[in-house]
Amino acid sequence: MEILSVSHLKKYYGSNETLVKALDDVSLTVSQGEFVAIVGSSGSGKSTLLHMLGGLDHPTEGKVTVAGRQLQEMSERELTIFRRRKIGFIFQDYNLLPLLNVYENVVLPVQLDGGKVDQKFIEGLLETLGLTSKLYAMPNCLSGGQQQRVAIARALAARPAIILADEPTGNLDSKTSQDVVGLLKVTSRMYNQTIVMITHNQEIAQMAGRIIRLEDGKIHGRNAHD
Ligand SMILES: Nc1ncnc2c1ncn2[C@@H]1O[C@H](COP(=O)(O)OP(=O)(O)OP(=O)(O)O)[C@@H](O)[C@H]1O
Ligand SMILES: [Mg+2]
Repeated sequence: MEILSVSHLKKYYGSNETLVKALDDVSLTVSQGEFVAIVGSSGSGKSTLLHMLGGLDHPTEGKVTVAGRQLQEMSERELTIFRRRKIGFIFQDYNLLPLLNVYENVVLPVQLDGGKVDQKFIEGLLETLGLTSKLYAMPNCLSGGQQQRVAIARALAARPAIILADEPTGNLDSKTSQDVVGLLKVTSRMYNQTIVMITHNQEIAQMAGRIIRLEDGKIHGRNAHD
């Protein structure tokens, strides 16, 4: 089943001599449960694409459909709610709230959405991610890898259909990066979630089922793995 589709997506910044075609006619589809890596040199449009996929920014032209809903047809309010329920974001700099402990950080998105926290599910998730002993720790007492795992748990807490990750292992060493992505892969398989992950790390990209390469805002080539 197709969970994500992008059709003739363009994102232009500036105008005339300052015009930047950050995305220049990108089309792609992703099936439910797929793990896709997006690679490409700096400035090739990776983050711009991820932002469009998550409805964090509006395209100049083109359509993005996530779980059967076209993002461009939604109001900001609808989008906010849709994002909270369907999409989990993981960014490079974790974005944990410093005054909340690990558990509170993880359940916050569910609580913000007015949902009931599924205690058993969250506990299982934290156990899978090796965070059980850190439930009440504050973020500043955690290592980078631990903070990243908390950010992953938070992204998964609402059981989103899609996980969008922008260089989630950018601050981690190579062994920790592979562990963290391995865990993400395991948890996403358990819940049939789809992952779209930007990475500069070739080893991490190889862990994906498919690699999409962006160059100058265009899709350059696709490789199948697995
Ligand atoms: N808000 C903006 N205003 C103007 N130009 C922008 C804006 N955001 C991105 N760009 C430009 O769009 C292009 C693509 O940027 P993007 O952030 O998507 O690259 P990237 O592939 O994620 O790069 P990196 O690997 O360095 O993170 C770049 O040329 C960038 O300068
Ligand atoms: Mg980027």
